[in-house]
Amino acid sequence: MNKMSKILYVKANPKPEGTSRTFKVSDSFVNAYKAIHPNDEIITLDLYKEGIRFLREEDIMALNNDEELQNKDHPAYKYAHQLLDADKIIIAAPFWNLSFPAILKAYLDCVAVGGITFKYTAEGPKGQCIGKKAIHFVTRGGAYSEEPLSKYELGDRYLRTVFAFIGITDFTTFALENMDRSATNVEQVIANAIKETQELAKNF
Ligand SMILES: Cc1cc2nc3c(=O)[nH]c(=O)nc-3n(C[C@H](O)[C@H](O)[C@H](O)COP(=O)(O)O)c2cc1C
Repeated sequence: MNKMSKILYVKANPKPEGTSRTFKVSDSFVNAYKAIHPNDEIITLDLYKEGIRFLREEDIMALNNDEELQNKDHPAYKYAHQLLDADKIIIAAPFWNLSFPAILKAYLDCVAVGGITFKYTAEGPKGQCIGKKAIHFVTRGGAYSEEPLSKYELGDRYLRTVFAFIGITDFTTFALENMDRSATNVEQVIANAIKETQELAKNF
């Protein structure tokens, strides 16, 4: 039997339950994953329900105080400890204004923390999140994965870069595009994607 893994499922969308296209796909992936790995622990972190906040003055001060940083209950940096403790990370967020909802950036400010998820060394910053993998689910109104708009895609690119910075280079993107084009049969695209997630979950 495989070793039990800890999965962190990070969700960033304020839409009511059952209405987010992105969550329809990511939730089906998570359900498929659970069915395949019943012994794994899945922690769901819904950023809106959690009420993730912007970093405050005292949080910035704490960056120079190792005792505070290492406190696993720190109101901002507990999320960095939680991520460090996970084996696999799933992120689901819609494409908003060329990136993702701002709450996800607020979350990244809580998790990309020198002294927790990366460390400053003589050779420069070094990611501490070793041996982990991540998958990013996103749906977009238009098409940004190819020219001419690919240079405007700053969501997946930023997320992937921050994850690499903290040491997570095994990063998969699952994107559905053209979701707001009248030519797109959205229900069909989502149904096909849900089928694909069954396979994807086997190898995650
Ligand atoms: C605030 C907001 C900003 C958006 N910005 C973009 C954008 O810059 N480019 C784009 O192609 N679609 C944009 N969209 C469309 C969404 O990416 C698209 O409808 C997506 O499928 C929504 O996913 P959801 O159902 O999970 O919320 C935006 C939607 C919202 C609500």
